[in-house]
Amino acid sequence: MQQAIAILDSGVGGLTVAKEVMRQLPREKVIYFGDTARTPYGPRSSEEVKQFTEQIVDFLIQFDPKVIVIACNTATAAALDHISQKVDIPVIGVIHPGARAAITATKTGNIGVIGTMGTINSGAYTTALKQLSPYINVMSQACPALVPLVEQGDFRSEHTRSTVSESLNGMKDKPIDTLILGCTHYPFLMEPIGQAMGPHVKLISSADETARETSTILYDKGKLAIGDETPVHQFFCSGDPVMFQSIARSWLGEQIRNTPVVWQVSKL
Ligand code: DGL
Repeated sequence: MQQAIAILDSGVGGLTVAKEVMRQLPREKVIYFGDTARTPYGPRSSEEVKQFTEQIVDFLIQFDPKVIVIACNTATAAALDHISQKVDIPVIGVIHPGARAAITATKTGNIGVIGTMGTINSGAYTTALKQLSPYINVMSQACPALVPLVEQGDFRSEHTRSTVSESLNGMKDKPIDTLILGCTHYPFLMEPIGQAMGPHVKLISSADETARETSTILYDKGKLAIGDETPVHQFFCSGDPVMFQSIARSWLGEQIRNTPVVWQVSKL
């Protein structure tokens, strides 16, 4: 049986990464887990997020995946090192790919980062950016109101636009030319975020670069899928499968043929 790429997130946010993985690696099968019953992870302690991530990895590992993508910045900040030591397959996070993509894009070296409380308080983006270049100025801000909007499937309403705009108040006046969407839920809000920040700020999602890193690692390990069979992806969530399915269907539309079957896992 074809070995899959396992992708996890606190909810539907990791679908932004899954979509890019499916686009760049159309032969690969994806097994996705969204912890929708316990989302958001952002306000939780890093110890708790680490514990939840470990439970999800224990669930996913039974499918014998060839790589695990932690498609959640909060979980990457809290648990990437721990999970990498725990399993004997490659584990990819989203923070270093996001930092790399932002450094590629910036002209001025002034980069903004928005994310959950957990991600921003961890300082993981500042560390990752400074590790790549000491000349980068980083301005960070937590936007805790945004993830619940995405989990409710509300991407473009007036309420969403005004919440996004208010959440970005502290960032709008900063002299940045690049803004990292440091939460995998935020690309769902690309349009209102772009509207609030204006056309002079480039918005960076880590999805492209994370998919590229996944592709490189599989190539290096000689693990890329071969053959012309269309992969059948699998989706699991811990909360309401109906809402998850509706968001997955509309977001992944071009990448999947049929309405995704979503299994609810009530106990991890
Ligand atoms: N999508 C997640 C992230 O990238 C987490 C959102 C949350 O559960 O707070 O951080």
